[in-house]
Amino acid sequence: MVPVMTSRSQVGIWLLVLGLFVACDSSQPKQAVGGGPAPAELQAGEAKFTANCAACHGNQAAGTDHGPPLVHKIYEPNHHGDSAFQRAAANGVKAHHWEFGNMPKIEGVTPEDVDQIVKYVRWLQRQAGIQ
Ligand code: HEC
Repeated sequence: MVPVMTSRSQVGIWLLVLGLFVACDSSQPKQAVGGGPAPAELQAGEAKFTANCAACHGNQAAGTDHGPPLVHKIYEPNHHGDSAFQRAAANGVKAHHWEFGNMPKIEGVTPEDVDQIVKYVRWLQRQAGIQ
C-alpha cells in the first residue's frame, strides 16, 4: 500500500512539474513584449531608438509623460507608414493626436538611422500584435 501511494504521489509531482513547464512556455511570448531582447539584427536600431527617442517615447516605445507610445494602434504601418517616421525625425511633429505638445526635430539622426529605428519599432509592434 505505502509504496503504491508514494509512486502515485510522485506521478502527481511530475505532472505538476510538467504543468509548470508548460505554463512557463506559453507565457514566454508575453514576456518578450515587456523585456525580451530584440533579435541581433535589430539591436543597432534599438540602441539608436534608446539614445534618440526613448526619452519621450519610452523604453521599448511604451510611452512616457513626454510622449506617446509608438507601440500603439494609431502608429501601425497603415496609419503611420515608415515615411511618417522619417518626417517626424527630420521636421518634428505638431501635436495633433495627443496632449504632450510638439515633437521637436531630432538632430543627429540620419535617414539610415531612422530606417533602423523603424524596423525596431515595427518589431515591437508585431510583438504586441499590432501590424
Ligand atoms: C522631446 C520628445 C520627443 C522625442 C525625443 C521624440 N519624439 Fe516622437 N513624438 C513626440 C510627441 C509628443 C509626439 C506626438 C505628437 C502628437 O500629438 O501627435 C510624437 C510623435 C511621433 C510620431 C508620430 C508622427 C505623426 O505623424 O503623427 C512618430 C513616428 C515619432 N514621434 C517618432 C519619433 C522617433 C523615431 C524619435 C527618435 C528619432 C522620436 N519620435 C523622438 C515626442 C518626441
